[in-house]
Parts: sequence; structure tokens; C-alpha cells
Amino acid sequence: MTTNRTFTMIKPDAVAEGHTGAITKMIEEAGFRIVAIKKTLLTPERAGEFYAVHSERPFYNDLKRYMSSGAIVPMILEKENAVADFRTLIGATNPAQAADGTIRKLFAKSIEANAIHGSDSDENAQIEGSFFFAGTEQY
Ligand code: PPS
Repeated sequence: MTTNRTFTMIKPDAVAEGHTGAITKMIEEAGFRIVAIKKTLLTPERAGEFYAVHSERPFYNDLKRYMSSGAIVPMILEKENAVADFRTLIGATNPAQAADGTIRKLFAKSIEANAIHGSDSDENAQIEGSFFFAGTEQY
């Protein structure tokens, strides 16, 4: 296995409810190194750009509204097998199907307010990380 990177963001509900510290602790205890982190706000337009791949799906407008409803905490993470291992750590998109002990099982409320995002491929991890962080913000 090679060391590689993934991208994540803690979503508005989880940030607003004060779960940023607990989620970040779980991520570090699972062996991920935080390469970049910040707290920021997406406009509906920027949220739409981030989720452009879903623009034809019926929930696209709801997703844009939700993702711009409060602060988020984006991060770039590094670990062996980062993308797949992180998807395992966060659990299924729908928290009703998420395994016990996963971040979504613990903190997600619904398929929309599902606490956290995780990139689904090395290529998307690179694109999504660059959406939020300049090279000089990655250490
Ligand atoms: S996945 O993991 O990409 O296959 O999941 P997918 O089902 O394609 O969902 C993609 C993102 O859209 C969000 N989503 C929704 N938002 C609002 N309403 C509904 N019904 C809904 N269904 C899916 C879901 O949380 C995924 O967000 P990310 O940030 O990619 O996890």
C-alpha cells in the first residue's frame, strides 16, 4: 500500500452542534494525518460548484441549501490507503445503513445532514482538496 491523500469536510449540522473536536479526534486516532484544515462557509453557488456532479439529481437544490446553511470544516488527510479507509471510517451515506462505530452512525441525522463528506477516488480527492486549499496551505 502507498501513502496517499483524501479530502473530507465536516458538514454544517455537525459543526453547529459542536462535534468538530470529537470527529477530528476519531480521524486522528484512526491514523490519518491532517495535512490542511480550516473553518469556512460555502455560498450556495460554491456549494453547487463542489457538488456539480449531482446537478441533475432531485436533491441538488436541497444539498446546495444545506451545505451553505452554516460553517463547514474541510480537511486534507494523509494515510496509507486513505480514500478507502476513510470511507470505512465514516460509514454509509445514509446513516440508517451506517455500521456501528462509524462517524455517520454516531453523528449523522439524515442522508442530507450526514455529518461528513469523504472523497470517493484518488482523483476526486485531489480535485476536492484543491477546491479549498492552495498548495501553500498543505503541510
Ligand atoms: S455517494 O456516496 O456519492 O454514492 O452518495 P450519493 O447517494 O450519490 O449522494 C451524494 C451526496 O448527496 C447527498 N445526498 C442528499 N442530499 C440531500 N437529500 C438527499 N435525498 C440526498 N441524497 C444524497 C449525500 O449526503 C452525498 O453527500 P456527500 O457529501 O457526497 O457524502
